[in-house]
Amino acid sequence: MCGIVGYIGHEPAVSRLLGGLRELEYRGYDSAGIALLQADGLRCFKAVGKLSNLAAKLGDFESCGPVTAIGHTRWATHGKPTEANAHPHGLTHSQVVHNGIIENHVALRAALQTPFLSQTDSEVIVHLFERHLALRTGVEDPALAAFRATLDDLEGAYAILLISETEPGRIFFARKGSPLQLGFAEGGCHFASSDAPLVGLCTEALYLEDGQWGVANAEALILFDALGREVEPSSRLLPATSLAARKEGFRYFMEKEIYEQPRVLADILTGRLRNGAVVLDELGLQWLLPISSVTLCACGTSYHAALAGSYLLERLARVPARVEIASEFRYREPVLDPTGLFVVISQSGETADTLEAIKLAKTQGLATLALCNVDNSSIVREAARTLLLRAGIEKGVASTKAFSAQVLTLWLLALYWGQARGLLAGERHAIELAALNAVRDVMRVQRGTHERIQRLSKRYLHGHGFFFIGRDLFYPLALEGALKLKEISYLHAEGYPAGEMKHGPIALADAELFTIALMARSSLYEKVKSNVEELSAREATIIAISTEQFDLADDLIQIRPYAHPMLEFFEMLVVVQLLAMEIAVRLGNDVDMPRNLAKSVTVE
Ligand code: F6R
Repeated sequence: MCGIVGYIGHEPAVSRLLGGLRELEYRGYDSAGIALLQADGLRCFKAVGKLSNLAAKLGDFESCGPVTAIGHTRWATHGKPTEANAHPHGLTHSQVVHNGIIENHVALRAALQTPFLSQTDSEVIVHLFERHLALRTGVEDPALAAFRATLDDLEGAYAILLISETEPGRIFFARKGSPLQLGFAEGGCHFASSDAPLVGLCTEALYLEDGQWGVANAEALILFDALGREVEPSSRLLPATSLAARKEGFRYFMEKEIYEQPRVLADILTGRLRNGAVVLDELGLQWLLPISSVTLCACGTSYHAALAGSYLLERLARVPARVEIASEFRYREPVLDPTGLFVVISQSGETADTLEAIKLAKTQGLATLALCNVDNSSIVREAARTLLLRAGIEKGVASTKAFSAQVLTLWLLALYWGQARGLLAGERHAIELAALNAVRDVMRVQRGTHERIQRLSKRYLHGHGFFFIGRDLFYPLALEGALKLKEISYLHAEGYPAGEMKHGPIALADAELFTIALMARSSLYEKVKSNVEELSAREATIIAISTEQFDLADDLIQIRPYAHPMLEFFEMLVVVQLLAMEIAVRLGNDVDMPRNLAKSVTVE
């Protein structure tokens, strides 16, 4: 997702900022920009697309002498990836870069009553700052006071750097919910939204805590907490290499992405729970309400999300939902409901089969919606509406955080639709919203659970196959658990509805058949239990994932108790992701780049 860099000093700033932004490229972006303040004034350069476009625009321009500079790579959330929407955003004498989402930007824009140049939520920050500064005459350090007042106006998540012609040699900074760090070196002060741009420039970094803000010059900073009390900065050593920095201390990108899921889920919810209801501004009720049915279509992991989504849409919104594998759908001359909605789900937005499926649905006149992680991708361009997944770039070929983002977004869609149809009120609605609010904590990896999975994994490196079994929502999760395992461990694994085992696969049961039983307390527990008992009676080795002790389990991975099935779903998801990863690690496989697989499947 978006990246931030900043620099105050005497060294050439353009090459520093571009170098820093290149270190953040792996996060994904669709436009970039920098702003520099020198003796001859403030200049801003922006370009859509790759950093090379920005570099071309800059030509051989470089700073000379003292400079204060900020830079940004933007991954569009509010407004298309255009030059106007790219950061930095400026007004008369200031420029700002921002990561995160300003939830109350609509209200702030209305209150400011001034023309805006972009569609972004971020632009309000620079307007607010200049407005506050104009009002603060006669106070000590008016710019610092204006910056503080600006932060007080903002709701949501942010990492912010702001520079102003009135304040040469100073960068105002703030962090709430989005990471930001800074380090001092001989050449001056450097900022970045993750370690990688700082590696090689500084040896230590100050990692801002949530709520911290302040101002820095080339040699020092003043730091405050959320309550405005000055705090003592303390630094930590930076990683030694930028690759290590990009993995942020994790062994693999996949591991980092599993651990990142709470933040992704929080980003997805930002701005979408308002006045006790789910709000999806991208859709609008007028568009959604006339729709009579929904077809969800996708491939691989995204198909598993679609399947989970179909359970949620029927249950919460009472909309008939069917699910299609895109590669099958294309050629089977499907008959579609012309008043229905066709939803495609894709991390990359470039999967050939999914792209053709949406084109086919359009020829039959259906309304279309894409759930996609990449703005401006081919699938997003085809779809009438889009819900961006906000997962940030996914580096691991085996999808993890994109899947949880897809499922959460589908859950939001089901709730929004159910609300609109008047089906979710009172206690039921309150239970759903409370569960949504809890989901971030549920996905936080428990150290003890990870250690247990690491230990257990050594027992499951052989055998003639794995069956992941579950019922209801836990059936798509079983499919996803099996896919994760086979993709990176190269062991045979299948996901199966637990109740179906006796109709055939139980013939395989023996001690070398490893059954991963998703035994959710909140959903058909007794039924799954008897399905597992049937397997155990035939000597299958049982690994239960459950809140409950289960005597017949050879191994139990215990999760925390929840009343809501979606919370059990998300905690079990972390378990199956980690289990696949730890088995693959023990087998010595390349976890991030498994054999034969590509991240984006642009061929049939
Ligand atoms: C599995 C995985 C694949 C993708 C599938 C669809 O970990 O990543 O199964 O889910 O190739 O890709 P997208 O979602 O990009 O359309």
